[in-house]
Amino acid sequence: MEKFEAVKISDRIYWVGAIDWELRNFHGYKTPHGSTYNAYLILGTEPILVDTVKLPFFDEMMARIRSVINPKDITYLISNHSEMDHSGSLQKVLELISPKKVFASKMGHQALKAHFHFDVEITEVAQDEHMTLGDTHLRFIETRMLHWPDSMFTFVENDGVLFSQDGFGMHLASTNLFSDEHGHESLKEEASSYFANILMPYASLIPKLLSSKAFSELKLELVAPDHGPIWRGSDEIKWITDLYMQWAEQQYYKKVIIVYDTMWQSTDKMARSIADGVRSEGIAVKLLSMGESYRSEVATEILDAGALLVGTPTMNQQMFPTIADTLCYIKGLKPKKLLAQAFGSYGWSAEGVAQVQGVLKEMGATMLGEPLKINYVPRDEDLVICREFGIMVAKKLLEFSAK
Ligand code: FEO
Repeated sequence: MEKFEAVKISDRIYWVGAIDWELRNFHGYKTPHGSTYNAYLILGTEPILVDTVKLPFFDEMMARIRSVINPKDITYLISNHSEMDHSGSLQKVLELISPKKVFASKMGHQALKAHFHFDVEITEVAQDEHMTLGDTHLRFIETRMLHWPDSMFTFVENDGVLFSQDGFGMHLASTNLFSDEHGHESLKEEASSYFANILMPYASLIPKLLSSKAFSELKLELVAPDHGPIWRGSDEIKWITDLYMQWAEQQYYKKVIIVYDTMWQSTDKMARSIADGVRSEGIAVKLLSMGESYRSEVATEILDAGALLVGTPTMNQQMFPTIADTLCYIKGLKPKKLLAQAFGSYGWSAEGVAQVQGVLKEMGATMLGEPLKINYVPRDEDLVICREFGIMVAKKLLEFSAK
């Protein structure tokens, strides 16, 4: 039997999650530093398990639970989020124990039924419902579409602990369970990547949630997400909630992202000349060659960018496959406030560049002009045009960022 121990995070609450050191891809999002699946056990007079872990980590979670309690003594289960990295072990847990009740939001009820097709009774909790289970006083806050319809927060009044499911989380495998055991630089890197790749499509809901009466009334000691470190103390909690407010704003930030791929280095030459033009105006610029970069890195870079230039060759009358992949992913994340334009080298037809331009328009980006196209290999004078284009983009971005 595997030997793992629960970790105490407050007087009556234990972390009973699992560490996934090996995770490198989370449904298409590159996770170079693994992740954790955080589940929590409230040891009141009637013990409550909050969320579970991804199914392969069931044994690790159960071992941690057994280190502090007989699992059969768990009286209630709360599912804050039905995505399988948190609900994956739910069915196995229910085969082992018979809690009095399983709680979820209204949409969580539907989602759990649709995932597991079981006849377990789920008790729905309402928005901002207060509830006492044994000696534990709970408050439930629906966070619908952050980032699934079922998502909700559970607050434990006794301990000042907010279980925030994916909110304020990050993919970071570590035995350091608290945020103040990490440096802010690495936390910002991971949290921003998580925000960009998971929460960006629904970013506009975040300021509404954080400024809501229900959220403002919470006396927070710990914010305990379902991935990554637990935010401990008012300074740490303010730090991450302030960042969420900033990321949710999505301004025309003074940074240009050049995303491209190349067949015979012609589009690559264009990208580099454009970048030099941007740089010459004092604007930050980042090139991401999609042969070597990953779609989720583009999403993360967009979070603090104000312009997205996408370069593609045309291959078999199509945009390059890596660019199609990236644009499909980025379009779904619905980034706001971006200047954009397509560019690229072409041979006997230039459909790829036109297709990229079309996707950028569909994304609702502010288009800078017609696509910049060069036939086959750029001459020196073509690269001058590319550089001048970069200068124009930088100047436009300065204008938009000042609005
Ligand atoms: Fe960590 Fe939306 O699941």
